[in-house]
Amino acid sequence: MTVQVAPSLLSADLLHLDRDIESIRGCDWLHIDVMDGDFVPNITYGPGLVRALSKVGIPQDVHLMISQPARHVDAFLDAGAAIVTVHVEADVHLHRTLSHIRKRGAKAGVSLNPSTPVSALEHVWDVLDLVLIMTVNPGFGGQAFIPGGLAKIAQCREILDRLGRDDVLLEVDGGVDLNTAPRVVAAGANLLVSGSALFSAPDRAAFIRQLQAL
Ligand code: DX5
Ligand code: ZN
Repeated sequence: MTVQVAPSLLSADLLHLDRDIESIRGCDWLHIDVMDGDFVPNITYGPGLVRALSKVGIPQDVHLMISQPARHVDAFLDAGAAIVTVHVEADVHLHRTLSHIRKRGAKAGVSLNPSTPVSALEHVWDVLDLVLIMTVNPGFGGQAFIPGGLAKIAQCREILDRLGRDDVLLEVDGGVDLNTAPRVVAAGANLLVSGSALFSAPDRAAFIRQLQAL
């Protein structure tokens, strides 16, 4: 199993975004944390940033931490998102939203907050391309890893194996660093988001390679 890495731009320096993106060349995806001040307490950016970043040549993994995400998925798809992930807690028509994202040719992702059980995915396994297990309560970078996520990752991996879905990406987001990354990979994750640990590493490209080699 190869491990992919998605640096979270939440920890990048917005004033020097070009420079920061050059420092993470070699990553697999750019992780874009979209927050609305409603589903989560913080507010970040919108489709305009995704459109601008579509010129850098790294596919974007857009994590929508917003209420009623179905209202906005098209704007992010039009802007060039390669993955659009919505929170199961935020969307009452999850099956429809995921099917729509897929129909538009992008990967459809579903994210689970730390308090949401894996069973919430029971009726959408056939319409998703990615599961994102949150190992912090979403809203901010730099929070401590919640170890309860490990059992959920293992549970997802078991279900995916049983369903023969080795095409599904199993992503982990929150508190991923050189200490927690080997544990999440051992539990079955194959896509790691890292924000504060990665951007504060002295050699970011080497940090990315270290995670990819797990
Ligand atoms: C949290 C975001 C994460 C965050 C990760 O709400 O979804 O992507 O930026 O940052 P670290 O790696 O610092 O926990
Ligand atoms: Zn995220």
